[in-house]
Order: sequence, then C-alpha cells, then structure tokens
Amino acid sequence: MKTLPKSRLNTFAWKIVPFSIVGGIIDIGIVALSSRLAGSLVGKELNDLIPGLNVFNNSIEEQAIILVCLFVILSWLGSFAKIFRLMFIESLTAQIWRDISNGILFKLIGQPYNYFLTTKSSSISSQILANMQNIADLIIRPILLMITSIILICSVSLALSLVLGLRAIILLLFLAISFFILSSFVVPYLRISSLQNVRLNAKFSSLLNQILLSIRDIHLTQSRDYFESKFVLIGKSAQRFQWRAKLLPDVPRIVIEPLAISFIFLVALMPYIYGSDYQNLASNLIPFVATFIVSLVKLTPPLQDLFRSITTVRGGLPEIDAALLYLELNDSNRGFIPSTSLSPDGIFPRREISLVKINYKYPGSNNYALKAISINLPVGSRIALMGPTGSGKSTISNILLAHLQPTSGQMRLDGEPLDDNEISSWQRCCSEVSQDFTLIDSSVLENIAFGCRPDEVDLDDVLEAISAAQLTDLIEEMPYGLNTLIGENGLNLSGGQRQRLALARAFYRNTKFLILDEATSALDQKTETEIINSLKIIGRRCTTVVIAHRLNTLSKCDFIYEIKDGEVISSGTYQDLCNPEHPLGISVKV
Ligand SMILES: Nc1ncnc2c1ncn2[C@@H]1O[C@H](COP(=O)(O)OP(=O)(O)OP(=O)(O)O)[C@@H](O)[C@H]1O
Ligand SMILES: [Mg+2]
Repeated sequence: MKTLPKSRLNTFAWKIVPFSIVGGIIDIGIVALSSRLAGSLVGKELNDLIPGLNVFNNSIEEQAIILVCLFVILSWLGSFAKIFRLMFIESLTAQIWRDISNGILFKLIGQPYNYFLTTKSSSISSQILANMQNIADLIIRPILLMITSIILICSVSLALSLVLGLRAIILLLFLAISFFILSSFVVPYLRISSLQNVRLNAKFSSLLNQILLSIRDIHLTQSRDYFESKFVLIGKSAQRFQWRAKLLPDVPRIVIEPLAISFIFLVALMPYIYGSDYQNLASNLIPFVATFIVSLVKLTPPLQDLFRSITTVRGGLPEIDAALLYLELNDSNRGFIPSTSLSPDGIFPRREISLVKINYKYPGSNNYALKAISINLPVGSRIALMGPTGSGKSTISNILLAHLQPTSGQMRLDGEPLDDNEISSWQRCCSEVSQDFTLIDSSVLENIAFGCRPDEVDLDDVLEAISAAQLTDLIEEMPYGLNTLIGENGLNLSGGQRQRLALARAFYRNTKFLILDEATSALDQKTETEIINSLKIIGRRCTTVVIAHRLNTLSKCDFIYEIKDGEVISSGTYQDLCNPEHPLGISVKV
C-alpha cells in the first residue's frame, strides 16, 4: 500500500470523508425530525431544543406539515450525498485497482526469464487477474465502505441517544455484540471458501485455456468427454465455494434484523410492563418505536455495509497475501536496467563471443542440462548447433541471449566476462527466432516492428526485413497489406508464413547477433535457401547461430558443433560432417 500515489489519500480525505460527514449530519436531522413528527402525531407538546427556531410553536397540524416538508428535503439531500459518496468510493477503488495491477505488471515484466520457468504461465495470468479483482472487491471497497459506514452509524447513534437516551444506547450495543458473535462463527467458513475460490478459479481458467489450445487434438483423439467431465468436475466444486463466499457475509445481517425488531419492542415496552404505567403507553411508545424504526431504516444500509465489509475483509485477507507476493517480488538486476553504461555498439565484441565451461541446471531439476559447454563464435561467422532432441541446444541459445544465468562458467565477449549490469546492453545486440515464438494478436506491421511506437517505425527497414524473410508476395496479397490483422498467435497464417513473419521481426531489428532456433524448419528448401542467402545482405556482418537438423541449412554454416546430453561431443566444418572418418561425420552418417 506504500506504493499508492498520494492523490489517492487526498481523494479519500477530501472527497469521501466530507461526503460521509455531510450524510451523517443529514441523518441526524432526519432522526430528530422523525422523533418530533411521531411525537406531534400523538399530540405531544414539543419544546425547541434549538434556540430561536420557533417553527414548532404552531398548532400540531402546522408542525406536522413543516416537519414533513423538512423531512422530504433532508431525504433528497441525503440521497445526493449518498450518490456522491458512493461515486467517490467506486472511483477510488477503481484507481487503486489500477495502481495495484500496474504495480504487479511492472514487477512481473522485470523478472528474469527463469522466474517464468518456475511459474506455470497458463495459471499465472488468470491468478493475477483474479487477485487484482479480489483486492478491489474483498479489500479496498469494503475498507472504504467500512470507514464511511462508521461515520454514518456514529451520527445516527448519536442522534438516537440524544433523542431516546440510555435505552437506545444499550439496544445498539446489544445489536453490535450479537453481530460480532455471529460473524465470528461465519468467518472461518468464509475464509476457506474464498481461498478455495481463488484456487479453483485458477484451475478453471487454466483448463479452459488448455482446452482451447488443444482443440485439434481433442477432435482427433475424440477426447471431448474426458475434457468435458474434467471441466464439469472443477465447476461443481467451484460452485459450492462460490455461493458460500457470496452468501456468508450476509448471514449475520439477515439474522440481526429480526433480532433487532424483537428487542426494540422489548426495550420500549419494558418500563410499562414493570411500572404498569399504561396511561402514557401510547404517547410514549409510539414516538420511541417510530424514532427507533426510522433510525434503523437509516442505520440499516451503513450497518449492512459495515457488517458485510468486516466479514468480507476478514475472509479476503488470504487474497491480499497472494497479491502482495507479486508486489514484493525483487526488482531484478538482470536485463531491463536503465542502460546508462554501454550502447549496443559499445559492448559488441570485435573478435569473438565465447562460452567457457558453462554448466546449467534448470530450477527444480536434478540434472544438468548443460555440462562444461565451451564454444567459440568468431564475430561475423555463422555457427550451427546440431544434436538430438533434448540435448541442450535451446538452453545454449538462452545462455547466449543472457535469458538464463549459467550455474557455473562464463560467457565472454572478447575474453571479458559478461557482467550482470551489461546484460541489457548485450540483449539490445541480440535478436532471435525461438522454437516457440509467439506472434501478437495485431497487424503484420506491429508484429514486425515489435514493441515500437508507430512514430518510431522505419518503414524502409520493415520492407527490407519483409523481403529478406521472403514475405513480400504474401503481404501484397493481403487485403490490408501491412495493416492486415493476423489473429491470435498468427491463427490466420500458415505455419511457414508464421515462421517467416517471426524471421522478419528478427531481421527488422538489424542486430549484430542473431539466433535462429529451428527457425526455418517449417519452410521448403528453396525458401529456406533464399532466406539464408538474404541473411548476408540484411545482416551485413551479423554473427549468426543456427540451430538446425537439415543438412541444407548446415551446409551454409562456417562451423558446426554437435551437442548431445548437454555436452559438445564433436565439432567441425560442413566438409568434416560429410567425411565419414571425422567424428562429426561418424555420428551423423551423411
Ligand atoms: N524449463 C525447464 N525446466 C526443466 N528442464 C528443462 C526446461 N527446459 C528444458 N529442460 C531440459 O533441458 C534439456 C535440454 O533442453 P533443450 O530445450 O535445450 O533441448 P533442445 O536441444 O533444444 O531440444 P529440441 O531439439 O527438442 O528443441 C532437456 O532434457 C529438457 O528436458
Ligand atoms: Mg530446442
């Protein structure tokens, strides 16, 4: 909460609190008026408490008319005060919701890549959304309502005790204590329900996500029943907690209503039962009950809000813990540091990029994915990594891109180890087409000029990247050219078209270091050759790492490393690969 801007506090202090106080004063007026009105209806003489205000010295009928008029006016004013109060509460809640969601996103986006390896990304987004919503619904709005309700309740109670005296105070105290006892019973159940609610909601949306992403497999494997029943099962358990979480906060209030009514009459009648003073019964009882009932009518909404808010906040505390976890994430010093130090040109090596005895173990894994990897990438060369699936090629690429920090060993630029505070400079030299790239649900242009504001986009560079990625013909055929929308993750494109778009994105950045992780696997040989050839033009002296299986791709590389089980087992040129005597040739058996 420390991170909230000061203007939020100002909204609270200068808008919500004043309107609550105005509402409270109006309520005091209404209670006092109703007491007088009831009194005047049973013919009681009224003494003015407010000196100089002689309106009540008229006849009883005239008094009643004036009182009714005042009553009506105050009711209108009260309603307006209420509208403004609620408006400020809702807008402040929305502002704080936005503050918190911004805070969470800013923290998350700055986390190092391996944070996302340990967090299940399909559930993380829905969990974050649920948390942010719940903080607004279960914490902020209830707390604001609580404070304003307390102001209103105090005002009405003050009026009530002024008009009706000790009996009223005892009655109010009794009602408050009963409520707290009742709500203490409810809170533990509510807390469990709201915890389960968060958990099941995350499960629910993760499953929904999986279903939508695997729809083709579901059709092919005829596994509709399996997923449907899984969905229904989670829905069933979620339903139980959902209705409890909604109903439970209301239970104490619902029980307290009849309790209040029973006791009002009991307290009001008590003196007459014991004192047998039946003569004044009607003239005293009616104003008392009428005033108390008007007060209760006035008290009910803030009491309802207060009761509901207290129970909600007490039940919702686990939610705030979950959100605080995100807000309290450390600011990472890997990547995203405002780069004051080196420009990409400043950090880029003149001679070579090298990995020296790199070991890497994924978080939570027992085995090393990379074992003592040492490779050398002369600047301007095109190096290939090949090897069986799961051998560690993509992991090497992530180390080279500084997405992952080696468990031990060093990455060096011209022999100098890459420092943590140089990572953002280094990353600005790199582009990649990863094995599982994601396209954004936007236009072709925005996908190529990824992360650029419209005024920053260099259209000539975009066109050059498109031509290097062999996309010119396709884009000319598209209905809106560069502005054509490609659908979620490029749903409207073919596999090869998606891949070429990802290549164009990497080419557009025109960096000096490029990694293509099976980036041409979906392309036909001719297109692939054209793209590899055009790399020479677009990249000028771009140092390129190509991860590939195809001989055609490997033949265009200066040097090849063969990786197996996280180790370099052989290396050589394409000629060596074709030589059955060479270790590289032996294992590949061309
Ligand atoms: N996030 C992860 N957490 C734990 N282990 C991982 C993770 N990612 C990869 N691994 C493991 O690390 C090893 C190397 O994986 P990597 O993705 O680098 O292989 P690869 O050579 O790129 O394979 P492929 O050719 O199939 O893309 C594998 O054994 C894999 O199981
Ligand atoms: Mg891979």
